[in-house]
Amino acid sequence: MELLNNPRTTQVIAEVVLALVLLVFLNTNGVEGLKALASDSFEYRAISCRAHGASLKDFGGVGDGITSNTKAFQAAIDNLTQYASDGGSQLFVPPGKWLTGSFNLTSHFTLYLHKDAVLLASQDENEWPVIDPLPSYGRGRDAAGGRFVSLIFGINLTDVVITGDNGTIDGQGALWWEKFHKGQLKYTRPYLIEIMYSENVQISNLTLLNSPSWNIHPVYSSNIIVQGVTILAPVTSPNTDGINPDSCTNTRIEDCYIVSGDDCVAVKSGWDEYGIAYGMPTKQLVIRRLTCISPFSAVIALGSEMSGGIQDVRAEDIVAINSESGVRIKTAVGRGGFVKDIYVRGMTMKTMKWAFWMTGNYGSHADNNYDPNAIPVIQNINYHDMVAENVTMAARLEGIPGYPFTGICISNVTIELASKAKKVPWNCTDVAGISSSVVPQPCELLPDQGPEKRTACNFPEDSLPIDNVQVQMCTYNRKYF
Ligand SMILES: *[C@@H]1O[C@H](CO)[C@@H](O)[C@H](O)[C@H]1NC(C)=O
Ligand SMILES: *[C@@H]1O[C@H](CO)[C@@H](O)[C@H](O)[C@H]1NC(C)=O
Ligand SMILES: *[C@@H]1O[C@H](CO)[C@@H](O)[C@H](O)[C@H]1NC(C)=O
Ligand SMILES: *[C@@H]1O[C@H](CO)[C@@H](O)[C@H](O)[C@H]1NC(C)=O
Ligand SMILES: *[C@@H]1O[C@H](CO)[C@@H](O)[C@H](O)[C@H]1NC(C)=O
Ligand SMILES: *[C@@H]1O[C@H](CO)[C@@H](O)[C@H](O)[C@H]1NC(C)=O
Ligand SMILES: *[C@@H]1O[C@H](CO)[C@@H](O)[C@H](O)[C@H]1NC(C)=O
Ligand SMILES: *[C@@H]1O[C@H](CO)[C@@H](O)[C@H](O)[C@H]1NC(C)=O
Repeated sequence: MELLNNPRTTQVIAEVVLALVLLVFLNTNGVEGLKALASDSFEYRAISCRAHGASLKDFGGVGDGITSNTKAFQAAIDNLTQYASDGGSQLFVPPGKWLTGSFNLTSHFTLYLHKDAVLLASQDENEWPVIDPLPSYGRGRDAAGGRFVSLIFGINLTDVVITGDNGTIDGQGALWWEKFHKGQLKYTRPYLIEIMYSENVQISNLTLLNSPSWNIHPVYSSNIIVQGVTILAPVTSPNTDGINPDSCTNTRIEDCYIVSGDDCVAVKSGWDEYGIAYGMPTKQLVIRRLTCISPFSAVIALGSEMSGGIQDVRAEDIVAINSESGVRIKTAVGRGGFVKDIYVRGMTMKTMKWAFWMTGNYGSHADNNYDPNAIPVIQNINYHDMVAENVTMAARLEGIPGYPFTGICISNVTIELASKAKKVPWNCTDVAGISSSVVPQPCELLPDQGPEKRTACNFPEDSLPIDNVQVQMCTYNRKYF
């Protein structure tokens, strides 16, 4: 009795019992069991948590990198659809290499990739259904007809999350790039993730590699968060745009790192007469804390397909390295539409061809039926608080003769030119606006207002609805592994 009352003895007994239990557990469950015990559940942040869950393995998934999992993914999601109105569901993709063709998402659903899970996109065209061109484009980008549906596709959905602890989606794009270069494509190349006609979408904490074409394409959708995504593709790969919000309202793109063969973020809204007829703008877009390397394209491109209009874009805390241009506005006669109320501040650029580029002479038409009287309106474009070094040319600003781009405001910008810089750092035609505290001295079309107007260019003080969306901490329980 004396002995058991001694706290030291009690502790020793407890430790011995614990060790015995652990030994028995190890004998019956092995090291795997111990690992599972250690990760009884895990947590992640999402716009909504789910009541039900399953693992891809429950549906016959095989993560050997050779077996196709297209049917397993679709069977899993079709099964989990039943929980849409009962707390929603999450599909766990365990460690492994999961070869798959395209599959479709459902509402109130989370796709979660373990950090050692790699989705390998099939290179077999039969694994990719062909869908119609986007109505606002009238045709596919690579070929006149339809387009291969994206690897992860969602249509008419609400409340969808694609996330993980930095799991990987590998598009295995090399074969597609080769077919593109050789003109062997019957249909437009697939994207990695496309979400159409949907709302309340989160794409976060993932690594996307080698997409056949664009990486993330939300289109005709609203309330979209893209956060903490790493996107990597060879800088020479064709059309591997990072994130393309297209005819979307209320989008937030933040904390992304993108190295690609095309624009890191390309804001779009349809093409020529098709985009004008569809008439759906991209508006209320926030881009922040983006790091981009895009030697042949832009960090943020607006257009060239902007025929439904682009309005209220707010970008800040952007780092551009070895990129062709910082912000680029691309449009053409025949596009119609508008690009207005664009605000960019706090951008650091290193090794750039042009810090700023805008052109009304981009060409690139869907077909010859575009309306030559459809003149795009470009107005209220604000750039401020920026530094750039090793820049070949400060700016190339080319409006449309007779229809100038107006309300351009550039302030507190210091551009250090490269030793092999162009002799004329600014080339401006058919543009109007002001500047203040900009080095080197801007062109005459952007007259200097003096240093007291250093804060002249606006950045909105209010916040957009997408900034008020809260993420919650969700738990994934071991019983679903
Ligand atoms: C799919 O859902 C049903 C419930 O409707 C369930 O009984 C079944 O086990 C599920 N299928 C798989 C493979 O888990
Ligand atoms: C996904 O949805 C699209 C559009 O409805 C359809 O064409 C395609 O066949 C679906 N994919 C699968 C794997 O069912
Ligand atoms: C999506 O919704 C539209 C409009 O309601 C409908 O015409 C279309 O068939 C739906 N597509 C799918 C695949 O659910
Ligand atoms: C994202 O993934 C990283 C790396 O695995 C993990 O540490 C982090 O908690 C995840 N973040 C969120 C918000 O889930
Ligand atoms: C995710 O993985 C990529 C590629 O390995 C890496 O560069 C990035 O830092 C990782 N992100 C996080 C949050 O761990
Ligand atoms: C400056 O830019 C040129 C390309 O225009 C590049 O070759 C050179 O390495 C850069 N220099 C520095 C110091 O980054
Ligand atoms: C000018 O821009 C720099 C960043 O490039 C910023 O640190 C500074 O506060 C800005 N100055 C004013 C007066 O806004
Ligand atoms: C300036 O831009 C105009 C229109 O793009 C072009 O025609 C002209 O050659 C450029 N001038 C210089 C000096 O680069």
